[in-house]
Amino acid sequence: MTAKRSSKPGIPDITQKLEVCSKLLGAYTDKELADLVLDRPGQKQLAAKATDSLRKWRAGTVPKNSSGPAQFWDALPDKLGCDATVNGVLLINANITRFIEYLPAERRARARELLTDSVVPNAWPNRAERTFDHSGVGRPTPRIELAYPGPLVTLEEGIRSGAVDQRHHYLDPDSAASWARLVRGEGYPIYDQCKAGLESLLMCESWKQIMTTDPPRSVVMLAGGGAPTKDLLLLRHFLRQPRLQGSIRYSLVDISLYMIRESAIWLEEHLPTLDDYQRAEIVCVHHDILRMSRNDCSLLRGDGRAVFGLTGLTLGNHSEADFFTSLNRVSQPGDLLFLSAETFDESPSEVVAKRSVDKYNHPDLRRFMRPAVTTVLGEFATRRRSLKQESIFSGMSRIKADLRPNSEARFSDIPNSWTVAVTLNVDDQEIALATSTRYRPSQLVTFASNFGWMLLDQVASPLDRNYGQFLFQKESLERDGI
Ligand SMILES: C[S@@+](CC[C@H](N)C(=O)[O-])C[C@H]1O[C@@H](n2cnc3c(N)ncnc32)[C@H](O)[C@@H]1O
Repeated sequence: MTAKRSSKPGIPDITQKLEVCSKLLGAYTDKELADLVLDRPGQKQLAAKATDSLRKWRAGTVPKNSSGPAQFWDALPDKLGCDATVNGVLLINANITRFIEYLPAERRARARELLTDSVVPNAWPNRAERTFDHSGVGRPTPRIELAYPGPLVTLEEGIRSGAVDQRHHYLDPDSAASWARLVRGEGYPIYDQCKAGLESLLMCESWKQIMTTDPPRSVVMLAGGGAPTKDLLLLRHFLRQPRLQGSIRYSLVDISLYMIRESAIWLEEHLPTLDDYQRAEIVCVHHDILRMSRNDCSLLRGDGRAVFGLTGLTLGNHSEADFFTSLNRVSQPGDLLFLSAETFDESPSEVVAKRSVDKYNHPDLRRFMRPAVTTVLGEFATRRRSLKQESIFSGMSRIKADLRPNSEARFSDIPNSWTVAVTLNVDDQEIALATSTRYRPSQLVTFASNFGWMLLDQVASPLDRNYGQFLFQKESLERDGI
């Protein structure tokens, strides 16, 4: 690896340094990295400021106030296990090659390897060459199982019907890297909001009671790729439960092998940081959560009670009726469901509407949609039988996002909901590239109950009161749905 000395102002090779630190320490977002490094009692606020500073440092500023967020760098050598001669100033001033030399010997090879992943996307090292120990002694290698997800609506078919099938955004080889970049960016705080909300949900009384009486033995995270630190949070929680002895089955069900792979590699590396991790049986299942069938039960879950999770606003990307119908094919009375959703108690004010839409105007999110935009522009050029195609830059700059009531938009099955629609107009036709629905909590709860899922508890994320985590239980007598 050759380290390029950056000619940019600011901290040399800051992007690579933070990438290496995040992966070595097990942080997926900037907030997680700041929280991990500044984790002493009383440092919560400082960590919040450091989260902002990480973004500013990436953009080219330098740490100034040594009694402020710059303390991140002072705390870092200890967290990375560097020897006593290494301090924050050395880490700031070093280029990436020197920075890696400051790491303890056992971490250097892994750091170089991680960097190769990030600077040469898709050049993942061959498994056999990977340097971190996966020799098998106690290391939990996640299993990948293949189910039959059914035929996928092609991008071209989707374009004909006016909406891109959102699964496609995750089927591009670069999707896992694009997703990681997106959740790290300041424009998309949803990942951290969701994780903080999950932490609160795990502390609510109804959940505590379940865990002391009849805890679930299987956790099934639906559309679960790309959230490895939420997985670690949940696994840590389950492994600590006194009522849960023996193995715990943890399944990640996802339509994208790229996203599954990212999570699997992450979990393989960081699971050993949890006590008693050998009890966790991780199974990654390539499947469509809208097309699960009764035959999939043994693949997805173990015996006894299961808890399903659909986190990170994914419900809002899909037909809610299709989701609950599919879920009911693999769930049993007494099973539980964690469901995340952005909510509005009443019609959104201009400020709230703007905040919802702004997330979708961010360059990182737009970049995520680039493969779909390329296909849309190509498809329209083909239709016109034209050799001239609008450039991707022009197409990307014309993407729009707005919030629409579903009384007009009909992107959702749940009454009185609102949907952020990210669209591109080509040749006077509007193509929806992505849609994300927000709900009135009472309507979401009623809708779920029509499918036999009764609300046990609901909490707001401490980071955003409009980000809700709902806990449902499947009742004994299933109703017919709507
Ligand atoms: C927003 S991302 C990550 C969500 C993540 N579980 C979280 O909590 O942040 C959405 C994930 O859902 C997956 N996905 C989308 N539609 C799916 C479907 N119909 N079936 C299975 N996975 C799906 C994508 O491949 C992607 O990994």
